[in-house]
Amino acid sequence: MKPIYLDYNSTTPISPTVAQKMAQCYQKGYLNPASQHRLGQEARLVLEKLRSEIIDMLGGISSGMRTDRLILTSGGTESNNLAISGLARAAREATGASRIIISAIEHPSVIGAAHYLASLGFEIDTIAVDSEGVCDLNDLKTKLDRATGEQQNSVAVVSIMAANNETGVIQPIQSAALMCREKGIYFHTDAVQMVGKTDVNFSTLGVDALTFTAHKFHGPRGVGGLLVRNGIELTPLIYGGFQQMGTRPGTEDVALCTGLHQALLEYQQSPEREATVKRLRDQLETTLLSMAPGAVINGQGASRMAHTINISFPGINRQALLLAADFNGLAISTGSACASGSSDSSHVIIAMGASEEVVEGSIRISLGATTSQQEIDDSLTRFQQVINRLST
Ligand SMILES: Cc1ncc(COP(=O)(O)O)c(C=O)c1O
Repeated sequence: MKPIYLDYNSTTPISPTVAQKMAQCYQKGYLNPASQHRLGQEARLVLEKLRSEIIDMLGGISSGMRTDRLILTSGGTESNNLAISGLARAAREATGASRIIISAIEHPSVIGAAHYLASLGFEIDTIAVDSEGVCDLNDLKTKLDRATGEQQNSVAVVSIMAANNETGVIQPIQSAALMCREKGIYFHTDAVQMVGKTDVNFSTLGVDALTFTAHKFHGPRGVGGLLVRNGIELTPLIYGGFQQMGTRPGTEDVALCTGLHQALLEYQQSPEREATVKRLRDQLETTLLSMAPGAVINGQGASRMAHTINISFPGINRQALLLAADFNGLAISTGSACASGSSDSSHVIIAMGASEEVVEGSIRISLGATTSQQEIDDSLTRFQQVINRLST
């Protein structure tokens, strides 16, 4: 039985044309862009052109006096760590601010970075979400207001994800960023589940820093970016080189950046992609709901990304469902890839105030640009078999 891949929020297959462009790049033999000789300078020119086109595609400012900065990293985890740690430590050095605010539904890479900063003396506050999984802006306001005035206790950075990786629920980033900007507080968003899947405009969002990673939108694994507003300095995570203005030292790779650039370009050149994914997702979701009485879509009442379904089958354990689905050739997930090795319940579904039964029965199904109608039709037959087996 040919497996059907429905775990695109975890990672996506690389687009053949992205792989081809990268191979061409390796064959051309671009060398170290930091070298002073002509071959190095050639690589530098190519890299900087790619970098500024990526900034453009993400709605940042790529030229002139107010140029935004694209820091290339190894992916979303590193970008999130660099943003939160880099902005928090820079703010503390400048003003003494020592609090960090994150939402209750962040990816483990944000939560982990915040925990690390707690060990350096920062205080962490968490913003609640409502029952649909949307961040409560009143709670953010209360937490920002509490901090105003007392310098030692003021907020260094706020980080709220753009779309949740488990439910696909879209967060009110523009409003949250504005609230922070009015108070002169840094605002970062983890847009890993949004970039390359729907249109994202850095300038319109009004954020100070934005995380993304290529492998979530049919680019290569091992490369991502942190887009940073013009003029903002971050304290580095690693030291020992001058590349990327010392903020993220280490030899830059032209081929990886080419892959990232090409994957983003292919998203932009396929305006029908999002609507196609949504049509397939809606068909899958509606039919799944009709298969099991009592099944619920987590976050259904909120605005959601087109590629994600988070569904609970009350009375059916998620781990048993995952294994039975795998046995039937369905690759799905119980939540974020980084946590799925463990059998922990989802902190996202718990934060939404769901009942224990809903939490224990929740799985994630996610689609991508290569999901076909045939796969959805076949997967529905397989899901029906799995549910029948586990319900008896
Ligand atoms: C919302 C979110 N942030 C960050 C990451 C981490 O990205 P990467 O795998 O590139 O480190 C992921 C990956 O699952 C994610 O879904």
